[in-house]
Amino acid sequence: MVDSSLEVKNYGILASGQGSNALSLIVKGLEFGRPPQFVILNRDNSPLIEKAENLGIKTYFLESTLKGEDLDFEARVLNLCQVHQVDWLFLAGFLKILSGPFIDHFNNVGFSQILNIHPSLLPKYPGLGGYKKAYKNNDPEFGHTIHLVTKGIDEGPILLQKVIPTNSNWSLEDMVAVGKKIENNSYALVLETLLKNGLSWDGKQAQLTWVIDVK
Ligand code: GRF
Repeated sequence: MVDSSLEVKNYGILASGQGSNALSLIVKGLEFGRPPQFVILNRDNSPLIEKAENLGIKTYFLESTLKGEDLDFEARVLNLCQVHQVDWLFLAGFLKILSGPFIDHFNNVGFSQILNIHPSLLPKYPGLGGYKKAYKNNDPEFGHTIHLVTKGIDEGPILLQKVIPTNSNWSLEDMVAVGKKIENNSYALVLETLLKNGLSWDGKQAQLTWVIDVK
């Protein structure tokens, strides 16, 4: 049985898209006096690049393949992690499959030190299109899940899950707007909790489930 705990020393962020979650992590990290060591983007058209740089965060654009694993991209990420002594990664809208060896690299004490935010109530709707699927299926509730990244896609141990009641008057765009705003708060709260407490795990998934009231 695994019995381990770990503090967060240095962390980095990997992002691809609009970057609202990455920005929320950066703002929380700065507020806490513990900003990320870097943000890595694999898309050069993200508005996050300018926003992160304006906040004084080191930003790297590393080109990657669009689909599948990209071992060359991963080697460049690992090199930057070594340079900046980064031992935790936050995936924030990062559109890339990570290879098993890359994930293993961040699994030193029995659990993964890579976090992800996924826009559905896992195990419902893994993969792409979480909001769209909840909307199309008229789900009475939707939400997001923050979990540790393991080799199974969107399968890792859950740190926080936020359930949001659906309003039947909403369009899909309304649902995404409401959902993403709360995602941003949730991810920042998880970062704050990790920076304060680190993560401890006695080998049971339940031990990782925090009861946090996210507004
Ligand atoms: C979020 O909905 C997140 O849950 C998913 O991708 C989206 C990224 O949005 N993984 P942003 O780039 O953080 O604004």
